[in-house]
Amino acid sequence: MGERPPVLVTRRLPAEALERVADRCEMTLYDGGGAMPRAHLLAEVAGKAGAITLLTDRVDDEFLDAAGPQLKIVANYAVGFDNIDVDACTRHGVPASNTPEVLTETTADTAFALMMAASRRIAEGDRFLRSREPWIWGPLMMLGQDVHHKTLGVVGFGRIGQALARRARGFSMRILYHDTFRPPAEVARELGAEYRDLDGLLAESDFVSLHTNLTPETRHLINADRLAAMKPTAVLVNTSRGPVIDEQALAAALAGGQIFAAGIDVFEREPEVHPDLLACENAVLIPHLGSATVETRLAMANLAADNLFAALDGERPPTLLNPQVWDR
Ligand code: DGY
Repeated sequence: MGERPPVLVTRRLPAEALERVADRCEMTLYDGGGAMPRAHLLAEVAGKAGAITLLTDRVDDEFLDAAGPQLKIVANYAVGFDNIDVDACTRHGVPASNTPEVLTETTADTAFALMMAASRRIAEGDRFLRSREPWIWGPLMMLGQDVHHKTLGVVGFGRIGQALARRARGFSMRILYHDTFRPPAEVARELGAEYRDLDGLLAESDFVSLHTNLTPETRHLINADRLAAMKPTAVLVNTSRGPVIDEQALAAALAGGQIFAAGIDVFEREPEVHPDLLACENAVLIPHLGSATVETRLAMANLAADNLFAALDGERPPTLLNPQVWDR
């Protein structure tokens, strides 16, 4: 490895972290605004010792073949890694890393904000005022659903799901959770969280918030049948990955009053948003902003850089997704 290893960064990151990378490496930065076009990505990754990728970049056999055998790490700038074929990285002997923990609290804030905004019709009220329609305070005007003292169902009870539950405790909410992995008993006890199977959780919850990884098993986990099982007063929130919800079915459930509202940060065919969803007044829609704060995006970038530097120095990256590459 030369003094300044060549690395690719596929989008502009917060300046402080980018400067750290540029100081240590021969950095190729794609600064074209949107996602790096595939052909360009494959051409630019060739010969690189490391790459900082985004959730809009697909890292698969084709990418790894294009990079070549000198590639020492793919450091993904996201906690979610459904854009990365981790098995392919392992087969190629390439460590892959993500950015967990640094965005937990910020993403839980976003989920709670969506719960509040959707149940209390905040975005709809804002749109209404801007329409300049005449109005006067009224006892029945734009009534929402209370958040406090309600039941929150958390689907995917990992770090972010638990952080949301902690916030909900401050609102005197009852917590239900569903996950294929059970948390340690003391975690559930501390949060007063009770396990339910998915159908039980959907039937009992006033708010349902999704925090699962996207896998073949969780694709369309929330479909028309599951939406029909929810309360008509329920609010559904998604800050995980778009395809966990069947968006067409969600739009129909919202339009038909099958559920009260939804707060959605992530979309099935991002950046496209289903036109039927855009037409729903009772959907609060934001453009994948879960971790989007100045502090957290810098922390994510610094963690991606730490993973990159560790691998380039022959050290174990701190948040490795495929430890078997390192341990063998
Ligand atoms: C992630 O990290 O997976 C988010 O979707 C972007 O912060």
